[in-house]
Amino acid sequence: MLTLGVLASGRGSNFQSIIDSINSGYIKANISALITDNPEASAIQRAKNNNIDTFIIRPKDFQNRDSYYSNIADMLTGRGVELVVLAGFMRVVGRPLIQAFKNRIMNIHPALLPSFPGLHGQKQAVDYGVKISGCTVHFVDEGVDTGPVIIQAAVPVHDDDTEESLSDKILKEEHKIFPLAIKLFSEGKIAVEGRKVIVKGRREELSL
Ligand code: GRF
Repeated sequence: MLTLGVLASGRGSNFQSIIDSINSGYIKANISALITDNPEASAIQRAKNNNIDTFIIRPKDFQNRDSYYSNIADMLTGRGVELVVLAGFMRVVGRPLIQAFKNRIMNIHPALLPSFPGLHGQKQAVDYGVKISGCTVHFVDEGVDTGPVIIQAAVPVHDDDTEESLSDKILKEEHKIFPLAIKLFSEGKIAVEGRKVIVKGRREELSL
């Protein structure tokens, strides 16, 4: 069974979708820890409701970024975590964590990368006027939303869409593709070749 470590900063709806997918048996994994940088995060209550150990680890308690991320890497390694899941973790992850978990950190981004990286991907899409946006699960490298793409889902953008309405539509897809990506990883079906991710298995299994 795959051991996950989750990092989240806020609402935690993606975290909840992963918890639900584990509880239903869709993903065969256990969540060893929730780490948050925000003591007010609703994700904390979601972890409590599911008896998941929670750690509030804040950058201000460390000398620098590297020591912050080394501490997190050591903790996750010490708990036997095999895959790190960024479920709305609102920070650019530092090198010590990325190096400790190379191609083993997944993030969900609310746009079709490489379009609209960084903050407010949904607003960027509305403002730009694209007709299709969506969400992306990718591995995390040292750039901002630049790592190898694992799965994407597309969402139409209508003329009357706002940042809020588009965010709602995209979030529904996030809650499908993030658990799916973790499930595929847990089944050994994800291989990284250069900057490409090869998903093994039949195409039909990937239909969303
Ligand atoms: C989501 O929009 C996700 O794509 C982005 O941060 C948001 C987190 O939402 N990375 P939640 O905390 O999972 O509800």
